[in-house]
Amino acid sequence: MKLSIIGATLALVLCGPASAADKAPDEAGAMNLLKASKCMTCHSIDKKKDGPAYSAVAEKYRDDPEAVATLTDWVSNIHPVEIDGEEEDHGVVKTKDAAKIDNLVKWILSH
Ligand code: HEC
Repeated sequence: MKLSIIGATLALVLCGPASAADKAPDEAGAMNLLKASKCMTCHSIDKKKDGPAYSAVAEKYRDDPEAVATLTDWVSNIHPVEIDGEEEDHGVVKTKDAAKIDNLVKWILSH
């Protein structure tokens, strides 16, 4: 009897619901939002264009605990950027859906 309780507890601990919260970002959702928002005209995943590669952004923020907050602001609000010596407005995501923006930011940071 005792043994089976221990067994059941162990099974719960090992196969418990821990994975749901930190599941990998949704790649297709992130790509759709990037395309709809025209982000890819200036960015690519691993090559510098007018803007830095997303892999370089992920590298820059690797140890920054504020990364998600900083980048959520960066892609949600207009900020000036300089491209070839000219000041322009940086792109903004074409959604107000916080979950989609959060997914996009985490997807960028996962590179
Ligand atoms: C007109 C070209 C252009 C477009 C369009 C554009 N970006 Fe950028 N992006 C840049 C440039 C240039 C930088 C570098 C800014 C700097 O470091 O001052 C940048 C930087 C970034 C960064 C890094 C910010 C940081 O703090 O290092 C992220 C993340 C980013 N862009 C995401 C996006 C997303 C998401 C979109 C679409 C909504 C987008 N960009 C659209 C040019 C662009």
